[in-house]
Amino acid sequence: MANIRKQNAVATEPSEAQIAVHWREEEYYYPSARFVGQANLTDPTIMERFREENFPECFREYADMLDWDQYWHTTLDTSDPPFWKWFVGGKINACYNCVDRHLDKYKNKAAIIFVPEPEQEAPVALTYRELYVRVNALAALLRDFAALKTGDRVTIHMPMVPELPITMLACARLGIIHSVVFGGFSGEACGRRAADSGSRVLITMDGYFRNGKMIDHKASAEIALNVAKQEGQTVDKVLIWRRHAGKYASASPMVKGRDYFVDEVLQKYSGEVVDPVSMDAEAPLFLMYTSGTTGKPKGCQHRTGGYLAYVTGTSKYIQDIHPEDVYWCMADIGWITGHSYIVYGPLALAATSVIYEGVPTYPDAGRPWRIAERLDVNIFHTSPTAIRMLRKAGADEPKKYHYHFKHMTTVGEPIEPEVWRWYHETVGKREAVIVDTWWQTENGGFLCSTKPGLDPMKPGSAGPGMPGIYPFILDEEGHEVEAGSGKAGNICIRNPWPGIIQTVWGDRERFVNQYYRKYCKNPNSKDWHDWPYFAADGAVLASDGYFRILGRVDDVINVAGHRLGTKEIESACLTVPEVAEAAVVPVVDEVKGRVPEVYVSLQPGLEPSQEVHDKVLKAIETMIGKIARPKKIHIVPDMPKTRSGKLMRRVLAAISNNLHTGDISTLANPDVVDKVREMVQGKEPVAVKEGPEDVKRFGTVD
Ligand code: WT7
Repeated sequence: MANIRKQNAVATEPSEAQIAVHWREEEYYYPSARFVGQANLTDPTIMERFREENFPECFREYADMLDWDQYWHTTLDTSDPPFWKWFVGGKINACYNCVDRHLDKYKNKAAIIFVPEPEQEAPVALTYRELYVRVNALAALLRDFAALKTGDRVTIHMPMVPELPITMLACARLGIIHSVVFGGFSGEACGRRAADSGSRVLITMDGYFRNGKMIDHKASAEIALNVAKQEGQTVDKVLIWRRHAGKYASASPMVKGRDYFVDEVLQKYSGEVVDPVSMDAEAPLFLMYTSGTTGKPKGCQHRTGGYLAYVTGTSKYIQDIHPEDVYWCMADIGWITGHSYIVYGPLALAATSVIYEGVPTYPDAGRPWRIAERLDVNIFHTSPTAIRMLRKAGADEPKKYHYHFKHMTTVGEPIEPEVWRWYHETVGKREAVIVDTWWQTENGGFLCSTKPGLDPMKPGSAGPGMPGIYPFILDEEGHEVEAGSGKAGNICIRNPWPGIIQTVWGDRERFVNQYYRKYCKNPNSKDWHDWPYFAADGAVLASDGYFRILGRVDDVINVAGHRLGTKEIESACLTVPEVAEAAVVPVVDEVKGRVPEVYVSLQPGLEPSQEVHDKVLKAIETMIGKIARPKKIHIVPDMPKTRSGKLMRRVLAAISNNLHTGDISTLANPDVVDKVREMVQGKEPVAVKEGPEDVKRFGTVD
């Protein structure tokens, strides 16, 4: 690998996206000979094979890991930029590739091991054969009982239980587009997504265990249906899985002719076999809603062939999944990580994928390590927030258990080097190789990561671009920021890749504007080189080719590895009649990375009160969910604004994080800044210059 050059960047005043960043260059760590000896990817010519001269045909290598009903004729079609088409002419079924094709060799092997949260409930293993039987019966139910057909959308609002991937795979078998909404989102959030996707059917569950309690989940279906209706979408069937078949765990009444228990209806379809529908490679496989810069979440539309090829290839090479492995990704299937790296990627490779129902620290911080020991998990995948949480709650716990990870992943947020080192030394027992994978909901799979058997690891850095992904850094004017310059900029991807979303559901313009407008060199060009993908993350590129991700440059806050739009939270605040204006900013949190902090000003004549505070909190929890709960809600006399009336969120972010507010003399009301600072920080404010880049620049880039 390239030699390390010390990066003593000079601090200058921040200018737009190009900011000097200084950090200590970390030492490299190397994978063990034992890991390399068994790794899937050890061919040092991989980057040659995937270099630009071989693009796009290099991606055949991933697509060839799948079984196609019909081989494609065009690997990449660029005739309608930036709506790229992959493996055109190909026909494939995702469910067949994740289930049926493994039956010959692996029918008796565990496909999924479900670990219930209550520790006295033993783990349940589902073999590939059993998965096949369950998926087929449910597919028959969806087709014949729910009257769903290829191309229909279905909203799935479920917790971490095996019935969730079973439902997704049954949809995929029929070419029904699933839209899984994270179980922790509120009923309202679910309803808005159901309406946007035009779902006629909602699949949900009565309840599930979380932190030792049974959560009543069906109750939120009622709210979801009302909200969807207000938005013009009628959901006329609700299919309800029961956590314990035959026993209804919700207080919410069943509505006759609308609500059905899946376990009851399924009896009629038991043993049925449904032929997988041969889908065009470009047919949508699923939607995954994510937060963006406006209040409305966008439905990221993923294609069948390209997506499946990309997650399979990256699961094999980067996750190093072999069929013999017991692989545990602790993410929730309701996020993209779970779709790509709990369900589709691992199952396409015939792995055993572990699904854990509950919270990692229940009943104590030793739980994940007990699970790992009991199931003999050898690949572990989680987020920096979970790592920080487990370290805080029990730094020595991993030492008490006899498990052995060969491989570990960190994903979702930047990881602090000292947290990385605890992960490596204590969780990984210095045996496990670590990959820090950078990517987004829109990307389908990893964009930057080290190749575990080939590249050294560097704590805090995601690593180089993946094979066939050519990332680079651009400043606000579109000039490339050079490697080793110590300057931050916007990380972009030069080229299309098979895992990128097709579009935003129902909103082609938003897709173009969000990802391609900013740096498009020529809107009439059909050459992909003119269409770099804008990721909305700040990053620095070291001279060794490793990217260090600094965080979002737009109005998105990464809370515990989950993306929340500040505009969504602000809209929720504004539904409280007393609130005149609202601003949401990120504040640094020791465990969760960032959490939202809320500033509201009230309608003229109103005084701040606990009542208004509570109303704002309730509005956020019901409209979005508890994950969006702010650290603090400040009721302020006024908001700092520019003379043109623009609300200065950057100034509020600086106040919340004890940072210098910078030049405020051009504001319309600079005195407000002092008042607000005093309210938040007290009489003698402490303002420091250094803070994380995303917080320092918050609100500076559109
Ligand atoms: C945002 C995407 C894709 C997996 C889960 C999150 C941040 C993601 C890393 C990483 C630093 C990271 C970025 C990105 N992010 N991975 N390894 N290091 N930051 O998906 O909800 O779409 O969020 O998460 O800011 O834009 P998501």
